[in-house]
Amino acid sequence: MTAFDVAEADRLLSTTRAVRRRIDTDRPVADDVLFDCIDVAEQAPSGGNVASRRWLVIRDPATKRRLAELYAESGEFMTKIADRLEGTGHAQEKVFASSAHLVEHFDAAPALVIAGIWGRHDDSGRPGLFDSVLQSAWSFNLALRARGLGTAWTTMLNAREAELTEILGIPPGVTTVVTFPVGYTIGTDFKAVARRPAEEITYFERWGFTRRRPSADGTPRVAAGPGVTVEVDIAARPAVVWPLISDPTVPSRFETELDAAEWLTEAPHGVGSRFAGTNRLGDRTWEIENHVLEYEEGRSFAWGTVDPQDPGAVWRFEIEEVGPRSRLRFSVVIGERNNLTAVNALADPDQEGRVLAGRRKMMRTAMTHTIEGIRALAERTD
Ligand SMILES: Cc1cc2nc3c(=O)[nH]c(=O)nc-3n(C[C@H](O)[C@H](O)[C@H](O)COP(=O)(O)O)c2cc1C
Repeated sequence: MTAFDVAEADRLLSTTRAVRRRIDTDRPVADDVLFDCIDVAEQAPSGGNVASRRWLVIRDPATKRRLAELYAESGEFMTKIADRLEGTGHAQEKVFASSAHLVEHFDAAPALVIAGIWGRHDDSGRPGLFDSVLQSAWSFNLALRARGLGTAWTTMLNAREAELTEILGIPPGVTTVVTFPVGYTIGTDFKAVARRPAEEITYFERWGFTRRRPSADGTPRVAAGPGVTVEVDIAARPAVVWPLISDPTVPSRFETELDAAEWLTEAPHGVGSRFAGTNRLGDRTWEIENHVLEYEEGRSFAWGTVDPQDPGAVWRFEIEEVGPRSRLRFSVVIGERNNLTAVNALADPDQEGRVLAGRRKMMRTAMTHTIEGIRALAERTD
């Protein structure tokens, strides 16, 4: 038997959302519920086990108003972005609409709760007092949610330290980390949202070494879909990066394993299009036919080698919009058949991990060259 009802614990952990529009502004939040939540939050770990966190609750309307004015000054950009995104169906439209709502109603929540700590960022790289707030502040969110309350994690007031100090009497030496507008939520039916799955962002043994599926014995296995992911942040918009990743001839310009590529099908290219690639490893070269499996303009371009039904490898470029920049991910998942790495790895089960590690190191080097080359091209043309 497990110690907890795991499904219920996971439901709490995965449905604690940023609540901005569904805060009940008319229902007061009593001290006892805040004390309870803070007591729970204080169970979180802290560097050196020193109890240095401090919590500040603000209910006075005039004080809340002054903080709301500061928040609105810092958050003006959110309103502008929300206006720009309205009606576009953009992935971030809802978040910005919600954030803009908070900018206009920051003082409407019955209580503002600031989590701070005795300590300053000293850039020493040592785990300091400062690092001890976040885990506790998130526990506070969870404790609120468990009791029918909600909040949103806000940080914009941190940039207004001088004013906060003056208004709230915060002493020098204390760092404020997060301000929570707290209230009971209108309804409690919050949902988990889509996030990138663990398999895509979890690496095993070496940075970038992925597993498509769990390995039964925890060791690298061909059957687990071993892969590599590399990423780079590019100072250019996705529209600038897209033509570079959806043209397979581009990687061949860099020092990668791909010497040349050539479309075998007519433009416009999309899912089902094919291209030939000439690969080179040391003094060995070979030709592979590639099949486009995914073609989502501005977002993703993926292809499978050899056989589209059972690819030797699936390669994927993905662009994530990060403000005015792009994060480019380049990944590969090695298939169980139709590639030499799998053949070599499976030839001797004792050597499976070693063969996969060696090949993946080479891939990671070539893939890093590729994304760095794309970054250089994109930043030049932006
Ligand atoms: C470090 C950090 C800073 C944040 N700052 C703000 C903020 O200043 N204002 C705000 O409205 N939301 C802020 N958020 C909340 C995020 O915007 C929120 O997590 C996002 O909208 C996704 O919503 P979800 O948490 O419900 O998935 C912050 C979150 C984090 C982790």
